[in-house]
Amino acid sequence: MLPAANGATIPPVDWPQPRPAFRVLVESPVDHAFVLDHTVEQRPPLVPEFLLRAASELTPLWEATEAAAARPQPPPFWAFPWVGGQALARFVLDHPSLVAKKRVLDFASGGGLVALAARRAGAAVVTAVDIDRMAIVAAAVNAQANELELDLVLGDVVGSNPNADVILTGDICYEGASAPRIAVWLRVLARDHELVLLGDGGRAFLPDRKLALQARYEVPTTREIESSERREAAVWRVVT
Ligand SMILES: C[S@@+](CC[C@H](N)C(=O)[O-])C[C@H]1O[C@@H](n2cnc3c(N)ncnc32)[C@H](O)[C@@H]1O
Repeated sequence: MLPAANGATIPPVDWPQPRPAFRVLVESPVDHAFVLDHTVEQRPPLVPEFLLRAASELTPLWEATEAAAARPQPPPFWAFPWVGGQALARFVLDHPSLVAKKRVLDFASGGGLVALAARRAGAAVVTAVDIDRMAIVAAAVNAQANELELDLVLGDVVGSNPNADVILTGDICYEGASAPRIAVWLRVLARDHELVLLGDGGRAFLPDRKLALQARYEVPTTREIESSERREAAVWRVVT
């Protein structure tokens, strides 16, 4: 059991079996086709090194996702390279020694941009994890397009002890219900792991302590996604 930041303990959470990106694509032909049909290939403004499948508007894609599944679905956040994720990806690419030859976890990976940056920067193994099945498929599509290997995990691993040296996460502090639990977990991980970095685009539930600023970026974005054409994003190191 992991000791929590406040001295309590966090119950262990099972770690689902990672699947290589190519296997996710082979096993999910319908979702694979959905991602291709509803997105276009784009280069994220702050990390144009990568080609990513992305959508331009959230609501029509969300409706299409729910229609295809015939039941309520989470918002399709996987279809956008969020400014916090772009900032973190930029930082990792510009500081490759942070991840080179390391085992890296991209928590809440969405379309997998941060994971791809870690792999391109020389990480030995990169595991991307998300709770949204479509995010895992999108990350697999993006890994294939960029000719990079990723391992993918579908599930909620908050509370687990990942088999990684470096933990990265982009734009995860957007929901009041989940952000405090995730923040506590990241602080626990910071105690026992080499490095925990959080990319954040000024989200409402970013913790106000135990974060050390590493870099700030001005990221071009769109009014449809962020109600603005530019947004500041920061990279924080989670400290204990
Ligand atoms: C705003 S998106 C950020 C995606 C990506 N990191 C980026 O910066 O582009 C948030 C992502 O967090 C995922 N997420 C939310 N809660 C999660 C949890 N408990 N475990 C794993 N992923 C989670 C969502 O499914 C979504 O893909």
